[in-house]
This record gives sequence, structure tokens and C-alpha cells, in this order.
Amino acid sequence: MAPCPESQHLPLVGGDATSDNDNINAPEGKSRVTVIGSGNWGSVAAKLIASNTLRLASFHDEVRMWVFEEVLPSGEKLSEVINRANENVKYLPGIKLGKNVVADPDLEHAVKDANMLVFVTPHQFMEGICKRLVGKIRAEAEAISLIKGMEVKMEGPCMISSLIREQLGINCCVLMGANIANEIAVEKFSEATVGYRESREMAEKWVQLFNTPYFMVSAVQDVEGVELCGTLKNVVAIAAGFVDGLEMGNNTKAAIMRIGLREMKAFSKLLFSSVKDSTFFESCGVADLITTCLGGRNRKCAEAFARNGGKRSFDELEAEMLQGQKLQGVSTAREVYEVLSYRSWLELFPLFATVHEICIGRLPPAAIVEYSQS
Ligand SMILES: NC(=O)c1ccc[n+]([C@@H]2O[C@H](COP(=O)([O-])OP(=O)(O)OC[C@H]3O[C@@H](n4cnc5c(N)ncnc54)[C@H](O)[C@@H]3O)[C@@H](O)[C@H]2O)c1
Repeated sequence: MAPCPESQHLPLVGGDATSDNDNINAPEGKSRVTVIGSGNWGSVAAKLIASNTLRLASFHDEVRMWVFEEVLPSGEKLSEVINRANENVKYLPGIKLGKNVVADPDLEHAVKDANMLVFVTPHQFMEGICKRLVGKIRAEAEAISLIKGMEVKMEGPCMISSLIREQLGINCCVLMGANIANEIAVEKFSEATVGYRESREMAEKWVQLFNTPYFMVSAVQDVEGVELCGTLKNVVAIAAGFVDGLEMGNNTKAAIMRIGLREMKAFSKLLFSSVKDSTFFESCGVADLITTCLGGRNRKCAEAFARNGGKRSFDELEAEMLQGQKLQGVSTAREVYEVLSYRSWLELFPLFATVHEICIGRLPPAAIVEYSQS
């Protein structure tokens, strides 16, 4: 596999885009959408999209959703239950997805007719999924990644959108934001940000596909900035969870969030000089940071970790508290740490470095507020 290039600096032109017009058609007619992933957020994404494909003439009604097949305690297959009940009983119980969502456990079959691919699996599975998809997708397919996380290789960090772009040879936008899936599932108002590289027209099409009255989407031309915000805020959420577990109070948590945001911005700009300051004020930036540090699974598991004095591992807490859902912040903290070590940047990012060292037991949870003394 070709290595992921890092720190690509692309020219930035044009402004931000929002759209709710149904006026952009795929070259050969209606677009077909497949969602690759069916966890908590994947299922909510399918629900959002399915409400729009029914409404907008430029999309086929049917939304295919690839399901990583599981056998439920009842003995039934998850994909069969989703298609019978129109509900993901394991990852999004109690929510109807829309009758036009079709669960498909066969990855190749799920993507073969699609020209709009929505990637939304935990990031650790993406390299394997991309390998399976090489040569199996339509040449004109466009992708968007809702995945928060990155891969770290010998050559350096590789964003998931770069992995998709390079391995599959297709364009890839990203969608990130203050989006705790269960809240959007019950249609509570929130916002999200599409990050795009060159094609504003394609970004507008993704906005059309996701935008609803309760899910307001806008687009910015800063794919790396948007994706890094979504990825790095999970590390800050782990730190916020430690603060909660140690009952340090709101001032401390606000301080950790501010320091975290500063490190997110500095790290992103060191990796990609094209990253825009304004991106950190979009939903994908400060808003996602706030919601993830107040709610969300990373904060919750880190709180439990600190309450147990670091004596119960994150693997154990994840298995016990998340019932099959995946933690992203701990693995992202390790990946960020690898980048910091490799580039001799550890001292520049004390919060990021300390989070990882607490996660692996090298430092106690209380060190989350002691790093600044070193
Ligand atoms: N849940 C949220 O609130 C939320 C919000 C925004 C973004 N995200 C991001 O969306 C992405 C997907 O998260 P989610 O919440 O939909 O998933 P999840 O953590 O709820 O579920 C895990 C998913 O992984 C699948 N899986 C397990 N083993 C697998 C394997 N070997 N190969 C492929 N898939 C496998 C499971 O079937 C399940 O669909 C993540 O990057 C996450 O950071 C989540």
C-alpha cells in the first residue's frame, strides 16, 4: 500500500457553502448512497440520509447500509433483524431507521451500485475495509468520512480520509461536529461541518444529503482541519473524564478544555499549514469539543478509570460500559503520542502526552493537572 502523504498544502479558494437546494444531479442521473458501518452513529447517519433521499429527487430512495454481521443473543443475525424491524436493536435501539434503509452484510454487494459512499466505522477497522474494497467500487464514486481517528504508520500520521482517497483512488470529504448520536437520533437540534478539498459542488451535495431542520450542516474548505478537530477532541475528552473522576470541578475542566483546544489547533497547523483558524469555531471545532467533554463515551470511561485510580484498564471498562461500542480517544491518544515522539514534539503538547501516559499507567490520573509544572 502506498504511504499516506502528510502535510499536503493545497491552495484554498472560495468561501463557505451551505445549501438545501435539490439541483445537483449525478452525471448519469440519480445518486445511490451506501453507508459503510452500522454502529451508533452509522445507524443515525443512515436515518438522516434516508429521510432526505425520499425527499430529494436527485437521489435514489433506497439507502444501503453495510452491517458487520453479528449473531444476537436471540440467535438471529443483526442484519436480518434490522431489515425486519427497521431498527438497529443492538446499536440504536428504539429508533426506526426509515423503511428505505436496507441492511446488507455483504460489503462488496453493498457498494457495487453506489456512487456516494458514507464511511462510518470505528477507525481501527478502516484499513481492512479499504483493502477489501479495492477494485470493487464504481470509478466515479465519491466518499465522505464520518470517522474520528487516524492511523499512524512509519511514514507518519495518516488521516482516514487520506486512507480512503489513496487506497480507493476517490475523492473524500469529511463530516464532523457536535454530534452525540443518541441525541440526533431523537431529533434534537444540532449542527455539523462538512470539510472539503476542492469541489464545492460535491460539498454542497453532501450538505444536501445530510441537512435536516434539526441537523444543520455547513461546508468549509479545510478537510484536514475539520478531520483533525473531530479526531483530537477525543483525547481532550479523556482528560475531561479524568477531571470528572477526580471531582476537580468546573474551573479545572474548563481549563483542560481550553488547553486541549490550543493543542488541537497547534498540532493541526504543524501537520498541515493549510488548516484555517476559523475551522476551530465551526461545529467540528469548539462545539464538538464541548459536547464531547460534557457527555460522550470517552469522557464517561475516563471518569470511571480515574475513579478506580487507574487500576481497571480501558479495555476492561470499554467492554463493561459500552456493550460493543468502541472507544476512540485512548487509541487516538496513543497515535498522537507516536507522532509527537517521532517528531520530537512531546514537550510542545503536554496535555496530549500526559493523557497517553495516564492511559498506559505510567502516570496517575491526578497528573492531568500536574503536567504544566514540568
Ligand atoms: N456514536 C457517536 O455519538 C459518534 C458521533 C460522531 C462520530 N462518531 C464516529 O463514528 C465512527 C463509528 O462509530 P459508531 O458510533 O457508529 O460505532 P459504534 O462504536 O457504536 O459500534 C461499533 C461498530 O463496529 C462494528 N465492528 C465491530 N467489529 C468490527 C470489525 N472487525 N470490522 C468492522 N466493523 C466492526 C460493529 O458492528 C459496530 O457497528 C467512529 O469513528 C466514531 O468516532 C461517533
